[in-house]
Amino acid sequence: MVGILEDKDRIFTNLYGLHDWRLEGAKKRGAWNATADMLSMTPEWICEQIKNSGLRGRGGAGFSTGLKWTFMPKQESERPHYLVVNADESEPGTCKDREILRNDPHLLIEGALIASYAMRAHTCFIYIRGEYVHERERLEAAVKEAYEAKLIGKGNIHGWDLDIRVHHGGGAYICGDETALLESLEGKKGQPRLKPPFPAGAGVYGCPTTVNNVESIAVVGTILRRGAAWFAGFGRPNNTGTKLMCISGHVEKPCNVEEAMSIPLKQLLEEHCGGVRGGWGNLKAVIPGGSSVRMIPAHEAETALMDFDSLSALKSGLGTAAVIVMDQSTDLVRAIARISYFYKHESCGQCTPCREGTGWMWRVMERMATGEAEMKEIDLLLDVASQVEGHTICALGDAAAWPIQGLFRHFRPEIEARITAYRAGRPHVQGATLVAAE
Ligand SMILES: Cc1cc2nc3c(=O)[nH]c(=O)nc-3n(C[C@H](O)[C@H](O)[C@H](O)COP(=O)(O)O)c2cc1C
Ligand code: SF4
Repeated sequence: MVGILEDKDRIFTNLYGLHDWRLEGAKKRGAWNATADMLSMTPEWICEQIKNSGLRGRGGAGFSTGLKWTFMPKQESERPHYLVVNADESEPGTCKDREILRNDPHLLIEGALIASYAMRAHTCFIYIRGEYVHERERLEAAVKEAYEAKLIGKGNIHGWDLDIRVHHGGGAYICGDETALLESLEGKKGQPRLKPPFPAGAGVYGCPTTVNNVESIAVVGTILRRGAAWFAGFGRPNNTGTKLMCISGHVEKPCNVEEAMSIPLKQLLEEHCGGVRGGWGNLKAVIPGGSSVRMIPAHEAETALMDFDSLSALKSGLGTAAVIVMDQSTDLVRAIARISYFYKHESCGQCTPCREGTGWMWRVMERMATGEAEMKEIDLLLDVASQVEGHTICALGDAAAWPIQGLFRHFRPEIEARITAYRAGRPHVQGATLVAAE
């Protein structure tokens, strides 16, 4: 495949499900190879290697994975340690973890064993999104194979007892937030917890817990097999490694692909997706990291790199690297209004700015989409968005505000023109004559 990453450097060699996903097939592709050697090293050594690899969490926030592991207590006590793998994958546009779950589940199971050992956990929960029925069946079958082959479980050949339990969620987006996930895992309503305490101090059942994304855990075995320096050799400093990217929308061939971090967005779209529908000149905007990040217009997409730092410098984000491409035919206002509806629908309702603000923002966005809104409501909407952003228990509030902020940052004149046109054609609308005359 054309691109930056060569086939020999791919971690997910069965991303498209063309090969055997079962234990035998996975072993031939390298999984469970030298795992015992890795577990013969100290937990500190493993954490250090993961830190040195530069791996940053693949669930969206991009926190250093190795560093996060060191927050767990260094000694086991009467309070057991837990690893929780976040397989909720509900951010619109994101469809990478499901490919690992159904096509390379042994990479995840192996990674879970290594990570659990590094954090001195004997139980790992994998919390999987409710709609992923097929993926859960595959994963459960792979876990069973691993138990039967004594790769995990009590008295396994690796010398670190580990039970893996697959937990099926109910399908609520908010359960992807790590603390809502823990509540749901405990059998309660999935609502985010106030932090502190952080999960490493008091997580599931009040015990030390680390929550990591599926991809963050599934790459661990290969990083240790090939070396931290190998992984760190891809991408730019602070943005290293290979990364699964999911591209949807107005490209010729939407796809999932593993690429080197920091690949230019334009190269990603042209070489892996057959380019933008109608050519690059037909591009209007890109949401580069899942529906919650701010969009960037075509001229910024021209030079953007697919990494944390490049996209945050553009006031957007890498998020889950779910790239949503929108060509000139897209009604961006309607698209963002639809996204606003999603966040309103998924708000758990605990905090007032989010519960009230997401519904209010969605209703105003609907009127922006038709042009019925008043011109002065634009600044009011942006003011409300900034009052929701950063003032809530979890990041769903931010996720609801950012898409709206991105839209107005780059396309405000377009929305103003829509409001003006709507009023010009309707002299009975209050203020229409005035606006039309301006
Ligand atoms: C509303 C919301 C939804 C989230 N959904 C997911 C998800 O589906 N999968 C995921 O891995 N992280 C999700 N996260 C991020 C998690 O809270 C957490 O940061 C992540 O699982 C940590 O893993 P990492 O360090 O390996 O990235 C979500 C966060 C929020 C606020
Ligand atoms: S920000 Fe929204 S989803 Fe998150 S805890 Fe508050 S109300 Fe719930």
